[in-house]
Amino acid sequence: MKKRNFAKPLSANTHLLRWVEKMVALCKPARVHWVDGSKAEYDELCAEMVASGTFTKLNAKLWPGCYHARSDAGDVARVEDRTYICSLSKEAAGPTNNWVNPYEMRKKLRDLFSGCMAGRTMYVLPFSMGPVGGPMSQIGVQLTDSPYVVVNMRIMARIGLPVYAEIDKGEKRVVPCMHSVGAPLKPGAKDVPWPCNAEKYIVHFPETREIWSFGSGYGGNALLGKKCFALRIASNLARDEGWMAEHMLILGVEDPHGEKTYVAAAFPSACGKTNFAMLIPPAAFKRKGWKIWTVGDDIAWIKPDADGRLHAMNPEAGFFGVAPGTSVKTNPNAMAALAKNTIFTNVALTPDGGVWWEGMTDKPPAECTDWQGQHWTPEIAKLTGAKAAHPNSRFTAPASQCPSIDPDWEKPEGVPLSAIIFGGRRAATIPLIYQAFNWSAGVYMGATMGSEMTAAAAGTLGKVRRDPFAMLPFCGYHMGDYFRHWIMMQKKLTATPRIFHVNWFRKGADGGFTWPGFSENMRILKWIVDRARGRTLAQETPIGWMPSYEDIDWTGLDFDRAKWDGIMAFDRAAWRSEVIGHEELFIDLHDRLPKEMIYERELLICRI
Ligand code: GTP
Ligand code: SPV
Ligand code: MN
Repeated sequence: MKKRNFAKPLSANTHLLRWVEKMVALCKPARVHWVDGSKAEYDELCAEMVASGTFTKLNAKLWPGCYHARSDAGDVARVEDRTYICSLSKEAAGPTNNWVNPYEMRKKLRDLFSGCMAGRTMYVLPFSMGPVGGPMSQIGVQLTDSPYVVVNMRIMARIGLPVYAEIDKGEKRVVPCMHSVGAPLKPGAKDVPWPCNAEKYIVHFPETREIWSFGSGYGGNALLGKKCFALRIASNLARDEGWMAEHMLILGVEDPHGEKTYVAAAFPSACGKTNFAMLIPPAAFKRKGWKIWTVGDDIAWIKPDADGRLHAMNPEAGFFGVAPGTSVKTNPNAMAALAKNTIFTNVALTPDGGVWWEGMTDKPPAECTDWQGQHWTPEIAKLTGAKAAHPNSRFTAPASQCPSIDPDWEKPEGVPLSAIIFGGRRAATIPLIYQAFNWSAGVYMGATMGSEMTAAAAGTLGKVRRDPFAMLPFCGYHMGDYFRHWIMMQKKLTATPRIFHVNWFRKGADGGFTWPGFSENMRILKWIVDRARGRTLAQETPIGWMPSYEDIDWTGLDFDRAKWDGIMAFDRAAWRSEVIGHEELFIDLHDRLPKEMIYERELLICRI
């Protein structure tokens, strides 16, 4: 077979050609590779990374088509303090985003990127967020010096030839995404398995719709279609064009009537989106005919159709999921999705050429190689507390391999949305489930969400922080304007989705989670669907509508009324400090806070 000449441009778009030329002059790569997106190219890149030590090919009998990568110990999660929204004015970015004057930042980036790809290949990686050519889809081109990024992006987005064809039509704006691991290679120097730079910059220019990422090869820092494009840049597009870009999973609930109800849910990073999106109902529910269908596990683009009904579309094509805690018991659908053709990053390697992470099996392997390449045994772990897998270790798996994937998951116009759920990780105060009184109370509910910090980002684990709409690290403009956009959306709608809040993580007196979670979340989801369809009543409480014990189907679960009362308890004193927490965020956002948020807060205070 004749080897393809990768240096030959695969697009005839003069803007693209000129931009690539300019960036080659800036970054000075040793060669350019136009990514065609084929399986053959993917296999070749993977083989090259096996040869260079970046990848380990897993045992093909146990893990067909799977690879393992170990990152640099200093490059393991999103870096929120190195993430910038460089709008023309600081006010437009708002107080919750880092901002640097775009002129200054461009100067800085020019220095950083100058010669940054020396000795490396620059890959030209065209990608579509959403099905290629779809009415809600968006196109980007990422220039990157990381083959790891190219192969991950092939799973996470639609890439290659069909996207060039879209670009060549010249009808859609293309978002330029610059990415370098920031580790130029001197002539003859030996590369490391995970090149990166201690200095990291994840930069967005909202007005010109540009992304520049330097120094990291990991996750949301480097797979630029995901958080950088599909949330930070897309939130700007969405505000300007009248739609919404949200950190939400999308799932379909098939009920015993044979009807399907789609819901979207915003939980902060590592708070259960992937698990909820792939939920398998408890046996008693399955028998009655309940089934969950997965549309997306992390991001939703939501837009009203011509009739004023919200539709939700998953812009991604794969799952970049948290490995630890994922098991055949907690999430069999994810386990099936990642059983083949998957890339694992920062999990442990087992002696038989497989992978392992905490929570994958009850019994850990007798020995393995941990995420840093060290010998690991359960005995060592007991002494030192060393984890075999990094808490933010991830799998990159094709969505199409998920057994519960919805037949309509690639519908270009998305699926109709009947309910929106907010949720966080809260040990206290927040009940298991309650429903907002109406849309603006629901917007207040999303705006005031709080959650304990997780390993998905660098920071203090466990600290409760306000994370409005689970978008604190992902909103590409002023959070107050974003609240207003949510308020305004209602005016475009003929039917508004019902809005709910859940908390799977409330702890009891023993310090453990009171709620069993995972599959059992179906019981709460059923009530949500019943409410959205007007099939069930609810109790009015100071914070919203709540189910009573009898409103939940308990078949097959021993969960007594005392536990229910504990997990649903509304504590006036705790809510008093909760509202003070809301106020702290509102003070920061005061100059652009919609008045509806003030009214809603006052009403809440009156009720509690
Ligand atoms: P990102 O990919 O970072 O956006 O995370 P995510 O929101 O998709 O979170 P994910 O589903 O991967 O879950 C993160 C962690 O929460 C895992 O360790 C899960 O085991 C745990 N988890 C998920 N659902 C539940 C639940 O219902 N109850 C409890 N106790 N833990 C859960
Ligand atoms: C998150 O942190 O919310 C993720 C992982 O989904 S990352 O792609 O790294 O942003
Ligand atoms: Mn996420």
